[in-house]
Amino acid sequence: MPNRGPTLPSRTAIVTGGNRGIGLEVCRQLARRGLRVVLASRNLERGASAAAKLAGHAAQVEARALDVADPRSIDAFAAGVEAEFGGADVLVNNAAVLLAENDDVFDIPLDTFRASLEINVLGALQLCQRLVPGMHRRRYGRVVNVTSGAGQLEDMGGYAPAYSLSKAALNAVTRLVAYAGRGRNVLVNAVDPGWVRTDMGGGAAPRSVEQGADTIVWCATLPDGGPTGTLFHDRVPVAW
Ligand SMILES: NC(=O)c1ccc[n+]([C@@H]2O[C@H](COP(=O)([O-])OP(=O)(O)OC[C@H]3O[C@@H](n4cnc5c(N)ncnc54)[C@H](OP(=O)(O)O)[C@@H]3O)[C@@H](O)[C@H]2O)c1
Repeated sequence: MPNRGPTLPSRTAIVTGGNRGIGLEVCRQLARRGLRVVLASRNLERGASAAAKLAGHAAQVEARALDVADPRSIDAFAAGVEAEFGGADVLVNNAAVLLAENDDVFDIPLDTFRASLEINVLGALQLCQRLVPGMHRRRYGRVVNVTSGAGQLEDMGGYAPAYSLSKAALNAVTRLVAYAGRGRNVLVNAVDPGWVRTDMGGGAAPRSVEQGADTIVWCATLPDGGPTGTLFHDRVPVAW
């Protein structure tokens, strides 16, 4: 047997909303690449049964409870990740809701905007606040914020105002956290997965979850010196 030198400890990746849709596929692909995956879901039973479906990778996938709308849940989750795994190397902020998709901006109650911002933006921001400083200290981190074309200001129209606003704000979080990580080998990017067949995307969407997860996993495993503060679609930088 050739001597391959000491085995590197495997990286720990957090995936929020990992129990279904694109998040579950991201868990599968990261586990296949040898990362230890923490499949985070707001309902632990649903998360555990999703993790069990990742046959062959089950040993590398751990289900944990995380409601990104609840700051106390985020605190408890982050403390658990620090204690159990020594922190996170990769954070995929994937969990989101699409509320009032077909309503007009003037008709949507403020509470719907508030809920969209809490789940889609402030949850991701708080997870960054809790987990990214450890990445800075360890000089390694990859953060992927799963956004949407709906959040691109360049061609924002009337589609899903509460969701679009939240994804534009998540894009801003991406830039802010990327700036904080410069020079520390912490690469922070946003990914638009395209229109994907999931509960959110519906059955008419042209893309599979495998296609939707591809660029997310690529950004989650970028080599040192890779891009940061960028919005990607199909591994190509696109305008904010
Ligand atoms: N599908 C598309 O066409 C499309 C297009 C552009 C962008 N995206 C983005 O891709 C990401 C994944 O979307 P998807 O299509 O896979 O959606 P999905 O099938 O609706 O899954 C959403 C996931 O988010 C979780 N979630 C929602 N609220 C949560 C909370 N408060 N705490 C923790 N988890 C929560 C859900 O958990 P429960 O099972 O507990 O509800 C579920 O696991 C989202 O960020 C979405 O905006 C999707």
